[in-house]
Amino acid sequence: MREKIVAGNWKMNTSIREGKQLVLDIIDRIGKLPSGVTLIVAPPFTHLCPVARLIGDRKTPGLAAQNCADKESGAFTGEVSASMLASVPCGYVILGHSERRAYYGETNEILLEKIKLVLASGLRPVFCVGEILEERESNMHFQVVSSQLREVLCQLEPAGFAQVIVAYEPVWAIGTGKTATSEQAQEMHAFIRSFLAETFGEQAESTPILYGGSCKPSNAADIFSQPDVDGGLIGGASLKADDFLAIAGSFA
Ligand code: 13P
Repeated sequence: MREKIVAGNWKMNTSIREGKQLVLDIIDRIGKLPSGVTLIVAPPFTHLCPVARLIGDRKTPGLAAQNCADKESGAFTGEVSASMLASVPCGYVILGHSERRAYYGETNEILLEKIKLVLASGLRPVFCVGEILEERESNMHFQVVSSQLREVLCQLEPAGFAQVIVAYEPVWAIGTGKTATSEQAQEMHAFIRSFLAETFGEQAESTPILYGGSCKPSNAADIFSQPDVDGGLIGGASLKADDFLAIAGSFA
């Protein structure tokens, strides 16, 4: 049985007060979740410590950062290191989100440095891959995703890879209201798993692969019903506790 995970990427939204309320609402209603589902929240950096205090000793929701530095420590003004995140404590770090790749020039090379530091700090990376619309329309999507996997995840040692969570986020579906069909999601998720199996063999069978891109309560059950879809990385809908928990309650 693979882990089922629903992670909320808050992006650059909420004040600290709003973020704390959102987490309190999630904690309040968490009892109704299907067993075996891990919930993760990924607030902005400024919110991590106050949110960690609210979560306390609870196992769920887990806490993720949305990014980290590609350097260990030192004179890198404005950056936040993986070991600082571990000291919050955070359990996870989202890496390679398409917004970071597109707006902040994050390359696979930089992401490989980041993922190694995240693993060295004992955190689990949520590594994002996905194609833009033009790449899908020109039938390049498998090629794009395979280079994102090859240049980063396939460079890891098996012990590091065992900690990885993959998120497939077709860029054309992010924040657009357009969702990949469940068939498109399954096709890509199965491709990702078999591509990873070429390097890591059977280990790829246990890798959670999440879908992201306009996932909401009305479409989550359909997408999550696919055999290679192990949950979701949720943007907009993770900002409302009811929607986020309804999505997490969508596993059959
Ligand atoms: P939306 O759910 O808002 O489309 O965002 C998806 C996403 O980018 C999650 O990381």
